[in-house]
Amino acid sequence: MSDRRKILVTSALPYANGSIHLGHMMEAIQTDIWTRFQRLRGHECYYVCADDAHGTSIMLKAEQLGISPEQQISNVQAEHEKDFADFQIAFDNYHSTHSEENKEFSKLIYSRLRDNDHIAKRDIKQAYDPEKGLFLADRYIKGTCPKCKTEDQYGDNCEACGATYTPADLINPISAISGATPIEKESTHYFFKLPEFEAFLKEWTRAGHLQEEVANKLGEWLESGLQEWDISRDAPYFGFEIPDAPGKYFYVWLDAPIGYMASFKVLCEREGLDFDEFWGIDSSTELYHFIGKDIINFHALFWPAMLTSAQFRTPTKVNAHGFVTVNGKKMSKARGTFINARTYLDHLPAEPLRYYYAAKLTNGVDDMDLNLDDFVQRVNSDLVGKVVNIASRCAGFVKKSGGVLADNIIEPQLWQKFVDAEPVITEHYENREFGKAMREIMGLADAANEYIAAKEPWKLAKEEGSGEEVLGICSLGINLFRALMLYLKPVLPAMAEQSEAFLNDSLTWSEGLQPLLGHAINKFKPLMQRIEKDKVDAMVDAGKEEAAVAAAPTNIAPQTGPLADEPLAAEISFDDFIKVDLRVAKIVKAEHVEGADKLLQLTLDIGDTRTRNVFSGIKSSYKPEDLEGRLTVMVANLAPRKMRFGLSEGMVIASGDKKGIYLMSPDSGAMPGQRVT
Ligand code: 2FM
Ligand code: ZN
Repeated sequence: MSDRRKILVTSALPYANGSIHLGHMMEAIQTDIWTRFQRLRGHECYYVCADDAHGTSIMLKAEQLGISPEQQISNVQAEHEKDFADFQIAFDNYHSTHSEENKEFSKLIYSRLRDNDHIAKRDIKQAYDPEKGLFLADRYIKGTCPKCKTEDQYGDNCEACGATYTPADLINPISAISGATPIEKESTHYFFKLPEFEAFLKEWTRAGHLQEEVANKLGEWLESGLQEWDISRDAPYFGFEIPDAPGKYFYVWLDAPIGYMASFKVLCEREGLDFDEFWGIDSSTELYHFIGKDIINFHALFWPAMLTSAQFRTPTKVNAHGFVTVNGKKMSKARGTFINARTYLDHLPAEPLRYYYAAKLTNGVDDMDLNLDDFVQRVNSDLVGKVVNIASRCAGFVKKSGGVLADNIIEPQLWQKFVDAEPVITEHYENREFGKAMREIMGLADAANEYIAAKEPWKLAKEEGSGEEVLGICSLGINLFRALMLYLKPVLPAMAEQSEAFLNDSLTWSEGLQPLLGHAINKFKPLMQRIEKDKVDAMVDAGKEEAAVAAAPTNIAPQTGPLADEPLAAEISFDDFIKVDLRVAKIVKAEHVEGADKLLQLTLDIGDTRTRNVFSGIKSSYKPEDLEGRLTVMVANLAPRKMRFGLSEGMVIASGDKKGIYLMSPDSGAMPGQRVT
């Protein structure tokens, strides 16, 4: 190809303090489809990513787990890489922002900003946790909402009334880390002088690098004036120390996007690519960042300004997408719809979700709903019912007549329809209008199925002397199937690979679509199974179970005493307390739950006519046989929760620490069913 483009693509770097969920995966799938499409079209296209490994929350998470931050980020990175690989995300390199390469680039970029007089330094006052010795970001401060007086609200907004404020406005603020009352403390901070880039950004944000709706939003911010951006954090902080400022660290968001460069640098070293060709100020290559709409300001304001000052090229495009909702609502742990990538993979194969996301993706920033019933229906109807059906209906007849496709196309008009669709599908892929591409492809699949249904080769085959016609019809069917699989290859790489084995051909898209004529094919094997709704239900139940286990006592060590580790919850009235019906319960039966790592199933007697079934995350500390016959305390009026293994009709009361879980028991003499107050 003479017009072979050189393209570098990134998706946002996931934080190294939690698992990849189906929201992250939507972005990775969107980016992966686009990059696979570019490679398939013959372009030189690289896709890099990394874990975003710095910041206070990662430092605190490691501390909570009793491990070093280095250990924490390496554990999480291994988990992330496996999750992405199992969703067939084909990174050319996956790195970490906590790397030598990233340190070097961060130092280089910072020093160029400083030398260009784009760094300011001044003292600011901030909330400080005197017990923990840590400056507190807004999300680490809790207190009573100044507007509606709801307790236990985070430092910047109230979940009850929606008010936004600063932590200084909170009534009775406490540190969410230690429970201490924050004090104000002064320290020196470093700022990036963003306002100096106002003219540049006004122009850059309107120069075709952003979606129009994004450019409009940024236009509003730019009109209301830019603020200097605080890029330093005081020790203790897990990150890179600022070269000329001991005890000061780069804020995680300073070195996060630089991680794109660092990851690509590793690829350059490994593959012998020219880094400067892709990042140099005069680069003629293309650079695309795929991100969520929540991090637009970092990528479309701070990042281009930093790159410009540091004399690197700016992105060709920043492609923002919306959030994933599940069944029309925000993902929720309680509903089991906050689904981790691994939970999904424990129940379902990756490709149906890749297809469903593709079918619903646009190039806009609207949220996308993963409707689980629609997911089952759509995948079964489109992929199994339409696409695979074509091959499975035709393959047997071709095999019977010798396994070699006919020498000609029996219905040139129908074939031409598939050829003519190519530029349209190509354009939709290029513009990230994957939903439109999928609709186009499924329209072709409908045409192929209608043709085969009308020709009824299975009936024709019974007629004397029909062999050639049957072979002609079914050879066309196989060729149409092949065209569909080629068009779907960026979305369904594994199914495309299996189809290549069946077709005895590799699906390439750098030249126009040519039919396979007089070509021997292999035995057809089923390419995709129907999705059973039961599997989806089991996945949702598993999500609920994970949420319940996460909320149950864990074996995590409190570092500064239990109360500091988990400060007292907001005060409640006696009326609130009395709503919780605690009862003495006798454990009449305790059993292992097949397939659950952390749960035991308890049968509890609370002195009335029926026993209660409760699943409890206490397996790590108790053997079932040791529990049977003993008394404990249960919440008896908790609304029953449907879990994968059955209905849980309450909770037993326990505490926990690093060494174990401790089930509460009443003193001897207590009787099952007695109310605990
Ligand atoms: O919002 C996030 O999850 C960030 N970790 C994304 C970073 S993207 C890039 F700039 F590094
Ligand atoms: Zn409020």
